Amino acid sequence: MQLYSVSDLLNQKNRVPEIAVKGWVRTFRANRFIALNDGSTLENIQCVVDFEQTDEALLKRVTTGAAVEIKGELVESQGKGQAIEILVSHLTILGDSDPDTYPIQPKKHSFEFLRENAHLRTRTSTFSAIMRIRSTLSFAIHKYFNDNGFYYMHTPIITGSDAEGAGEMFKVTKLDPKHPPLDADNNVDYAQDFFGKETNLTVSGQLEAETYAMSLGKVYTFGPTFRAENSNTSRHLSEFWMIEPEVAFMDLPGNMDLAEDFLKSVLNYVLETNKTDIEFLEKRLRDEEKKKPQAERSSLSLIEKLNFVIDNNFKRVSYTEAIDILRNSKPNKKKKFKYPIEDWGADLQSEHERFLVEKHFKCPVILFDYPAAIKAFYMRLNDDGKTVRAMDILFPGIGEMVGGSQREERLDVLKEKMAALQIPEEELWWYLDLRKYGTAVHSGFGLGFERLVMFVTGMTNIRDVIPFPRSPQNAAF
Ligand code: 4AD
Ligand code: MG
Repeated sequence: MQLYSVSDLLNQKNRVPEIAVKGWVRTFRANRFIALNDGSTLENIQCVVDFEQTDEALLKRVTTGAAVEIKGELVESQGKGQAIEILVSHLTILGDSDPDTYPIQPKKHSFEFLRENAHLRTRTSTFSAIMRIRSTLSFAIHKYFNDNGFYYMHTPIITGSDAEGAGEMFKVTKLDPKHPPLDADNNVDYAQDFFGKETNLTVSGQLEAETYAMSLGKVYTFGPTFRAENSNTSRHLSEFWMIEPEVAFMDLPGNMDLAEDFLKSVLNYVLETNKTDIEFLEKRLRDEEKKKPQAERSSLSLIEKLNFVIDNNFKRVSYTEAIDILRNSKPNKKKKFKYPIEDWGADLQSEHERFLVEKHFKCPVILFDYPAAIKAFYMRLNDDGKTVRAMDILFPGIGEMVGGSQREERLDVLKEKMAALQIPEEELWWYLDLRKYGTAVHSGFGLGFERLVMFVTGMTNIRDVIPFPRSPQNAAF
């Protein structure tokens, strides 16, 4: 007897006399109807048990969460609510559940509760839909780059450099925390550590990706990155996944074109591939919206929002223009911003980014040419001497989705910048070599993968779009 997935069964056009399927019981109704789910699709398949023919003790074990194997005949359903169903001929309990203690009861659970049960939350429709979408997005990203002539490279996870210069890194060490070896100045002597130097978990694969861009031309990395920033927000994780393309001979406008085309392409792909999952999440959001006061409701549905991004050009605005808009905005004048905008040079907070995207432009926005002082050391200095060729892509409901730049390719300018920021040349000698031997204009960006998953699923807490979130005070599972 052939084993099918629920997804395969639901796609059958004709009756199949003999099928087998394995999955978990979602519900068991009237001692007769099992809703079976195996994760292959959002939908359950209805399995109809003939209770008169089935051992009563066996039926008692068909409880929510139990793993079962079902054999039978796939037929057109006689009831409403489903097109096909299985008439069960053999029922085997593969693994019992315990109806009294099983956390995922067939009822609505809060996201907080499900986060505490992250090992079981993908047995719910919402989380299985999110994680299937996450998987598709990941594939779509690899597909986009593969289709467009990029090479996938694996950048190291343990590094000796702080790419973003923000000092928010997790240390990697084998030294005994109680008795670390000390040097002559009484500082911890990392020369005696495992790697013979201080090492950290990477905050970005960019610097290493640049070395491959300057040889293979078009590359990208897609891996885990780690940030020890103490920001307990709904949009930050301590461990998140980042996609970082890096391209030789590409300038900032080319970088913007790439990012825009890339985002539209992956959104399109997931909309087509995970239609059922997205429609389900859209309905969930619609029900949530109904609970809100009219004024706070979103005017676009989830699918409309995704199509809006696919169909419209991202608005490109310089930092200087953005500051003017913000300075003269209503919330700024009425002192509604927590961080009022007064002078050019201010770092933009998420309240400002969201005002620009959600209230002012009402579409994704690419901000560029930021003040050098608020951006990383590697960004290319403009001729004005005070701004750099940086870009951030801001999305409605999310804020910063992408951060990127054209890189400083001039050896002397880069050295000066590093000296000013006290970044030792010995640490990045290999990075400087790229500017010494055959330097060229090049650019790239970083997309926070979980922020993209948030946008596609409409989830508002980043902890709900990664299997096992890591955040300050939390590394459960
Ligand atoms: O803007 P960031 O810090 O840029 C870089 O790391 C560059 N090296 C990228 C590059 O040019 N290759 O981070 C890039 C993106 C952000 O726009 C945001 O989407 C995401 O990574 N991100 C986070 N996502 C979740 N949790 C955090 N703590 C994040 N920090 C950044
Ligand atoms: Mg950034």
